[in-house]
Parts: sequence; C-alpha cells; structure tokens
Amino acid sequence: ENRQPPEAKKFDFMVVSNRLPVDRCSSDDAENDDDGWRRSPGGLVTALAPLMMKADGAWVGWHGAPDEELEPFSHDGIDIIPVALSTNDVELYYEGFSNATLWPLYHDVVAPPEFHRAWWDSYRRVNRRFADAVIEHAAPDATIWVQDYQLQLVPNMLRQSRPDLRIGFFNHIPFPAPEIFAQLPWRRAIIEGLLGADLIGFQRPSDAANFMRSARRFVGASIKQQQIQVKGPEGEVSHVARAQAFPISIAVDQISELAHRPDIIERARQIRQDLGNPKTILLGVDRLDYTKGIGHRLKAFEELLKEGRLTVEDATLIQVASPSRERVQQYRLLREEIEGTVGHINGSYDTIQNTAVRYLHHNYPIEEMVALYLAADVMLVTALRDGMNLVAKEYVAARTNDTGALVLSEFTGAADQLKQALLINPHDIDGLKGTIMRAVHLPANESRRRMRSMRKEILEHDVDHWSAGFLAALAEGELGDDS
Ligand code: G6P
Repeated sequence: ENRQPPEAKKFDFMVVSNRLPVDRCSSDDAENDDDGWRRSPGGLVTALAPLMMKADGAWVGWHGAPDEELEPFSHDGIDIIPVALSTNDVELYYEGFSNATLWPLYHDVVAPPEFHRAWWDSYRRVNRRFADAVIEHAAPDATIWVQDYQLQLVPNMLRQSRPDLRIGFFNHIPFPAPEIFAQLPWRRAIIEGLLGADLIGFQRPSDAANFMRSARRFVGASIKQQQIQVKGPEGEVSHVARAQAFPISIAVDQISELAHRPDIIERARQIRQDLGNPKTILLGVDRLDYTKGIGHRLKAFEELLKEGRLTVEDATLIQVASPSRERVQQYRLLREEIEGTVGHINGSYDTIQNTAVRYLHHNYPIEEMVALYLAADVMLVTALRDGMNLVAKEYVAARTNDTGALVLSEFTGAADQLKQALLINPHDIDGLKGTIMRAVHLPANESRRRMRSMRKEILEHDVDHWSAGFLAALAEGELGDDS
C-alpha cells in the first residue's frame, strides 16, 4: 500500500524541509527495514514522527543524492514525498545560495557570504519545486510546517496558490540584525517569502525582533507587538503574520534512557580506559563548521598545555568533528586549518603514551555519542554564533547523575536557557582559558547544583514541548508565551 500513485493521497499535515527524515542504508545494514531506508537520527524527526502518524501527515524533502527522481513512499509509518535535486541544483541552490550565501550571512558574517545571481535563480526555482509538491499533496485547509533557511520563499508561494492552507515556518538558525541582512541583494523577496506564513518561529526572541525590524525596514510592514500586517498590492492588509520565539530542544527521555543503559555506561568506562584514564576528559562535538569556534577552542587548549596549566598526562581533549558540506570552499579550508592545528598541537605535546587531542572526523550513532558524553568531565561548546546548539542540551540530558561541567558560548541560543552553564565569549581566549580551568576544577557541589538546574530546565522543555507549542500557536492564531 506504500506505492500509491501520487494523486491518490492528500494530507492534512505536511512538514517540508530540505532534507528528508530518512537516510539510505545498504542491504547488509543491521537496522535496515528492508526497504533500503532508515529513519535519520535527530530531535526533529523524533518529535514529529508520532504527530505525523496521528494526523495523517507527510514529509516533503530531498533524500540527499543528486539526479534521482523517486516516487512517494512510506517508511516506518511516515509518508515521504521526495523532491529531486539535479547536480546543478545541489551546486547552486544547496551548496551555493543556502550554504555559501545565507549560512554565513545569517551567522553574523563570521565567514564572508558570496552573492551570485545564478545561485539566487536556482534558490527560487528549487523553492518553487518544494512549494508545488506541497500544493499537489495538501488536503483542503491542511496545516503546513516549513523548516529552515533553505526554504524561505515557500510560505508565500503556498499562500499565493492555496490561501486555504495554514502555514507555519521555523528558522533553525539565527536571524541577523537588519544592518547585516541589508547586504542581501534579494532581501525584500526573502522577507516577502517568509511573510506568507501565519506564524514565523525563531530560536530566540532577539531573532524574532531582528526579523520584524527587517520586515519594517525592507517591505514597510507595520508591526504591533508580534503581529505583522502584510499588505496586498493595493496597500490593503491581506493577512497578519506573527513572529515569535520557540527555542528548539532534544528528545530528553531518549538520551536519559541511553545514559542509563549498562552497555553504554560500560562503553564510557572503556573510552576513559583507552585514553589511559586521564584525570580530565574534555569533549567537543560539532559539525565541522566555521561557526562552531573549533579553532578558538584548540587555541585555548594549546595555550593551557604550553603554560603547563594542563598536561597531556592529566587531560585529553576529544574533538568529534562530523563531516559537513565538504564541497563548499569555506568548509574545505576550515578542515585544512583545523587538521593542521591538531597536528601541530599533537606533534608538540604528545608523548608515546598520551595524546593531547584525539581528533575524530566521523559520524557516530547516538549510542556512542552518549557514551562520550558520559566519559567527558568537561563539555566545550565555543560557537561564534549558533541558532541553538543541541549538543549542549544533549550533554546535560546525558549527565543523569548531575556531574560534569558545561562551558558554553554566550553566542548560542542554548545560552538563553542553560543559564547555569559556565558562559564564555569564545573570542576572549584568556577568558576562555580561565573558564576551562574553572570547569576542570569545579567543586562537586557546585557542579551538581548547576547541572541539576540545567537538567530541570531541559526536562521541562524537551522537543515535544517545542513542536506542541509551535503547532498550538499556529492552530490558535493567538500569541503564546514568549518568555
Ligand atoms: C543545521 C541546519 C539544518 C541542516 C543541518 C545539517 O542544523 O539548521 O537545516 O540540515 O545543519 O546541514 P546539511 O547541510 O548537511 O543539511
């Protein structure tokens, strides 16, 4: 029954994201469900899967490979509507406009964004293709939830052809101040695209505020509280869009359960032992991305070794850097830079027995990640700019016995909620070094007090709370709690 012709099925609830919530897996894969797909790890899928099953929902997105048209199918109870991208689309829309224009621009230009008209044309074309897939499959009055910066034009494309739909959008990354957003040659079209939604969600109140300032400045929208009056061609108010913060979170129960599993606890012990049982294990876990401040972290760690405040006998830094966007130039340069730095540090400070930085350019399953969280005394999150940073929340969720220390950049969305973390400015290397040393020597009672309060915060605000909150606000058309 999962090979119906596309026109046969209409859906009341659709999620739209650049990436589908499934990955291809090979036939000899243990987790393989026999149809060649497996559900992707990650909070968004975990949160939405039950809703999808209950509400007769479908997920629209790209499966991650170029030049391949797939028919709709269903996997693990979720209907999947694939959108194809050609090699050219991947280059111009995904690697180009999404990840070499919007990504650096929205992260406060920590790398220089590139502006190319051919990339913009492709972004528009591909957004149109996603919108058309929704239009074809949406039941009358359906609820559509569009995700992230790759698809900002989709809300208004939907509204123009299907005013019956209820349209939500959530931006997972920061939204920059208008002074920075102003650089974008297509700033007006992006704002108009987003304003097609009934509800536009952001990670932090400041992202929502930045968006509203841009809406006022670049399309002359009038705004009362969080209500943005969107004007039609004759200047009449055509509809009201709302912008509001809904900080995303993780599947806290899932992580806590893994953290209690005997085999994972044993694996954590094994990791420590394999490293020679150092007094302190520090851990960094990031996509290999220039927004994550990995270089700043390594610099601080190296200086601490140089000054003898840490030694390789006593401390090891595990840096997991998962491969990301490897065909984009800035990411290639970053990889060379980080690997050069790691080689330099290890060459200078390693002994036959001990290594300073254990650098792992891999993806690991969630079980291994939780074992690493359990093995780590100090978690280092030093992002220069980050919409949320779920790694910080995962570390806290895994520390079920209230030990460990989280060093957290104040430039992450997570810093708004994890106020008991040891907050740092990653640009201030001396401050970062001081805080790392403070984390290494944090008294047990202080660590317990901080961790307990952070755990309470994320237990009350897990990813189900996030999706339920967003969808309730979208359904009601009322302002929710923005605190
Ligand atoms: C960030 C973005 C997501 C994106 C993810 C991985 O978290 O907000 O939209 O999917 O990075 O990046 P990728 O380019 O591999 O999808």
